[in-house]
Amino acid sequence: MNPRLEKLHAYPFERLARLKAGVVPPAGLAHIAMSIGEPQHEAPAFVLETLRGALDKLGSYPATAGLPEFREACARWLERRFGLPAGRVEADTMVLPVNGTREALFAFVQAVIDERRGDGAGRSGGVPLVLMPNPFYQIYEGAALLAGAEPYMLNMTAATGYAPDLEAVPEAVWRRCQVLFLCSPGNPTGAVLSLEYLRHALELAERYDFVIAADECYTEIFLDESAPPPGLLQACVAAGHDRFQRCVVFHSLSKRSSVPGLRSGFVAGDPEILKPFLLYRTYHGSAMAVPTQLASIAAWEEDSHAVANRRLYQEKFARVLPILSPVMNVEKPAGAFYLWPDVGGDDERFTRELFARKNITVLPGSYLARGGAGTGAGVGAGAGDNPGAGRVRISLVPPVAQCVEAAERIRDFLRENY
Ligand SMILES: Cc1ncc(COP(=O)(O)O)c(C=O)c1O
Repeated sequence: MNPRLEKLHAYPFERLARLKAGVVPPAGLAHIAMSIGEPQHEAPAFVLETLRGALDKLGSYPATAGLPEFREACARWLERRFGLPAGRVEADTMVLPVNGTREALFAFVQAVIDERRGDGAGRSGGVPLVLMPNPFYQIYEGAALLAGAEPYMLNMTAATGYAPDLEAVPEAVWRRCQVLFLCSPGNPTGAVLSLEYLRHALELAERYDFVIAADECYTEIFLDESAPPPGLLQACVAAGHDRFQRCVVFHSLSKRSSVPGLRSGFVAGDPEILKPFLLYRTYHGSAMAVPTQLASIAAWEEDSHAVANRRLYQEKFARVLPILSPVMNVEKPAGAFYLWPDVGGDDERFTRELFARKNITVLPGSYLARGGAGTGAGVGAGAGDNPGAGRVRISLVPPVAQCVEAAERIRDFLRENY
């Protein structure tokens, strides 16, 4: 087997299952699951109807590049959502369908990493680096490891405003960087990267010749209706990068339209990168089924359901935060649907005890991050440095009433001095 597989870390949910094993929660309290970021709002009826009505299209192989209408719908949505000049996103060359951003984030790194470049072409030696936020979405790390690159963690803490501190990255690291992952709004912090921040990242990408992979799958989930999170393509336009040079953004219907099971997303950006990525995907065999594409077109062309979906999350934050704020150190995020509180101590113990006493499952923050920032080292290395340690991730995905009940149980749990 590929020896790189051995480098992969256990997925956070495997570790969570081990942590909870043998613990018996109180039978009188219904379980509330807040560990997984799986949207649970009702899927829009018109998307499901379109999907049902298109099932007769399963009789032929779909093209990897997707239907022109699919790419067109995505291009126009990008322009609408991010205020890009009309026609700036070329549907034919700048958009590709992906079966959810998860597979795309993984596949993208496989296609981009050039192992020859680390010690060749006059660059400083060493394996290629993939820079990523820490805490992070674990796919970034696995993608880097399987591509033969080394993950390089950029710690995000309250002190950095939960943004990766690009200034702290040594020049020698930038020289070996081939991909920089950004995630805005961030999972698990909910932090949004500003347009200025994105423009600075663009300058660095130009200076050191690396690709920025911007995971924007939470871009439609934000708390202040008057301040939608900016996107990387917007920063490109502001910087005069007409062809989105060195930039690829990842978008998904999973969170926007609450259809995580549809497995529908797209990538968009630099056509010089997307062309070879399409070649890779053709071999990879990752074409999107035509009924999925048709349902997705309906979803990308319609915005009001996404607004209604977001309002539900806004309501949850508005109801839950006043209950939790008096008893724990928790901040209102700018986007996404997570709380990332400081639990004032051991996050595994907090998680296990909360389950044992209140039948609520959350995720220990240390499972979403690595210790030993900047070293590419794995779990356990310098656990004291793990920027997720002492925090938990609470997903506000259950219905409003359940989120409120969970907040009340957590408040009582903390008052009982667990
Ligand atoms: C930060 C982030 N990126 C990507 C994904 C993958 O989403 P999907 O594959 O459903 O588009 C998730 C899912 O939870 C996520 O949290």
